[in-house]
Amino acid sequence: MRIDIITVLPELMQSPFNASILNRAKEKGLVEVHFHNLRDYSSGTYKQVDDYQFGGGAGMVLMIEPIDKCISKLKAERDYDEVLYMTPDGDTFNQGMANELSLQTNLIILCGHYKGVDQRVRDLFVTREISIGDYVLSGGELAAAVVSDAVIRLLPGVLNDETSALTDTFQDNLLAPPVYTRPSSYKGMEVPKILLSGDFPKIEKWREDQALERTEQKRPDLLK
Ligand code: ADE
Repeated sequence: MRIDIITVLPELMQSPFNASILNRAKEKGLVEVHFHNLRDYSSGTYKQVDDYQFGGGAGMVLMIEPIDKCISKLKAERDYDEVLYMTPDGDTFNQGMANELSLQTNLIILCGHYKGVDQRVRDLFVTREISIGDYVLSGGELAAAVVSDAVIRLLPGVLNDETSALTDTFQDNLLAPPVYTRPSSYKGMEVPKILLSGDFPKIEKWREDQALERTEQKRPDLLK
């Protein structure tokens, strides 16, 4: 998979991709992530990429021209499956979307900033608008990192244990069951005996029951 991220703050984006699982995915050659600084596509002397909105009102808007230049250059080099735009008024991101996106080959992610982008960018280029939740971030960069992380960890070969992404919370609309590690007893708190029994069919059943109970208690909406 290849992900091209268009942003006015490429420096903000580096660290999440250089650590842990995402870095391993890059090193294994399973994903390429490229950052494009929108300012490099500005034709203005001051590398301007935003301007006041027509009709008045507070806040700057990202201009269409640099975005058009950047996306058009990328599209001339290869085909893209989706152009995602990170915005608080997009569809709320979830595991189902992460699963769908993980099946794609080439993605562009456009990060909004300030008041967002000129509507014509959305009309012309964007295939999917994604929000990571009902709150407003300073820009789409952190949201793009969240979406990329959720997608990249699903690519075959990224996680060591192939089954571990399948047993994640949300993969079957259930929250994950509680987990424990050593020591089996800590300050009087014991690990459930069943987990130490070695009876794997019973352990599996216990985990399923716990997952269901947790989901009923914390997220009954997932069971509907
Ligand atoms: N940009 C600003 N806030 C955002 C959010 N909640 N999700 C996605 N992109 C955003």
